[in-house]
Amino acid sequence: TTAHLTVDTHFAIGTVRRTLFGGFVEHLGRHVYDGIYEPGHPSSDEEGFRADVVDLVRELGVSTIRYPGGNFVSGFRWEDSVGPREERPRRLDLAWHSTETNEVGLHEFSSWLDKVGSDLMLAVNLGTRGTQEALDLLEYTNIAGGTALSERRIANGRTQPFGVRTWCLGNEMDGPWQLGHRSADDYGKLASQTARAMRQLDPDVALVVCGSSSAHMPTFGEWERVVLGHAYDDVDYISCHAYYEEKNGDLGSFLASAVDMDRFIETVVATADHVKAVRGSDKTIDISFDEWNVWYISRFENVDRIGGIDNWPVAPRLLEDVYSVADAVVFGNLLISLIRHADRVTSASLAQLVNVIAPIMTEPGGPAWRQTTFFPFAITSRLAQGEALELKLDAPTYVTTEYGEVSLVDAIATHDSEAGRAAVFLVNRSQDEAVTVTVDVASLGDVRVLEAHTLSDDDVYAKNTLAEPERVAPRANETVVLEGGVLTLELPPVSWTALSLG
Ligand code: AHR
Repeated sequence: TTAHLTVDTHFAIGTVRRTLFGGFVEHLGRHVYDGIYEPGHPSSDEEGFRADVVDLVRELGVSTIRYPGGNFVSGFRWEDSVGPREERPRRLDLAWHSTETNEVGLHEFSSWLDKVGSDLMLAVNLGTRGTQEALDLLEYTNIAGGTALSERRIANGRTQPFGVRTWCLGNEMDGPWQLGHRSADDYGKLASQTARAMRQLDPDVALVVCGSSSAHMPTFGEWERVVLGHAYDDVDYISCHAYYEEKNGDLGSFLASAVDMDRFIETVVATADHVKAVRGSDKTIDISFDEWNVWYISRFENVDRIGGIDNWPVAPRLLEDVYSVADAVVFGNLLISLIRHADRVTSASLAQLVNVIAPIMTEPGGPAWRQTTFFPFAITSRLAQGEALELKLDAPTYVTTEYGEVSLVDAIATHDSEAGRAAVFLVNRSQDEAVTVTVDVASLGDVRVLEAHTLSDDDVYAKNTLAEPERVAPRANETVVLEGGVLTLELPPVSWTALSLG
């Protein structure tokens, strides 16, 4: 089987911003406690943060990190998480049926972000709270001093403001599971009012209004139209959230998940542009794809969910999905989809980062290791630079139950003219056939292949685990040949590949 790609530097889609490689840390399960924070662990520093986890997060290459939720934020009182630790209250976290100790709060998390070299993106609670509490938090984080809440921050040990630029106006407010879930009309009004108030306090904030928590919500499309009808002038981004999993053994459809992500993005762009047209606005709304991943939600729904009036554990093992090679191929393809829409998806957050549907796993008192999904993220984040390029792709197709006829191969390229670098990312969705791909790279001029990595395995369900943490890793693709401006390489079945040229 063969496929052909043409890379042409003239066909730029948009700049691949660093904010496309964001992450997400929610107070959920063992993400914070017994994840990034474990006082007493042999690698932990004086603040209780695990150095082995810090090193892996740095290697992953994560730009902005969304915090502290997620569903958690819709019941969160931010004041609980600042001030002297011994005075911080223990609270019920209704979203995940857990106890929140507030041992790690805003100041500690910000200090951890300095260690990993990432920026803070904060979500405000628009579930059980409203505009005033959002303003209070913004005053606490962004006002230099001389007011009650900025002085409280200073008294709590932080002289300089946190200077948080990007803010989420609540989380998944379209979801009936969300504390304080509202209709699109009610949420749109609240989001608009809160956004305006926040801008009165700090005109430089970038604001994300909640879109749909999945393209398969019954309100999808109409939710975006109504919410933006209220908040269009007040916000910069609308969010998208999407999780994919293999269902009922249908690997063919699962491998084509990026087709769904493409359609999702294009539908939200169309809806936002419709509102723009109706309003006669010259402002364009971008997408913050601030939750995306492979997640076996059906497992959480049926097995992991905690309940009971007397049962509120601290840091339970929740959503600890163990990812396979096939999961990582889909994951790499989702990154291809995000880059393909770099003109409108200008911010994204992988959900999540450590232990909870995460590329990094830890064992209390034990090691930290890379899941299969770690590799496509780390390599794409490092190599995708400059402009995303529209490709001419000729490839065979196959038929899926979920998405109809789809391409067997998917790919995207990026080009950084200043650095003289290009990258090509490819997946082969075939379950049994290798694909020989030729890539016309003549437009790049005189280049060499600098790196070629392929992730695949004879066992597509192979995983990295505590017992075997390095079972799966990408290897150098030795089949790559570059001759006369044409690259030729072989993509094994169910594989993800990254090439760097320069
Ligand atoms: O990432 C896990 C959960 O998924 C988040 O808390 C929520 O926003 C989404 O439903």
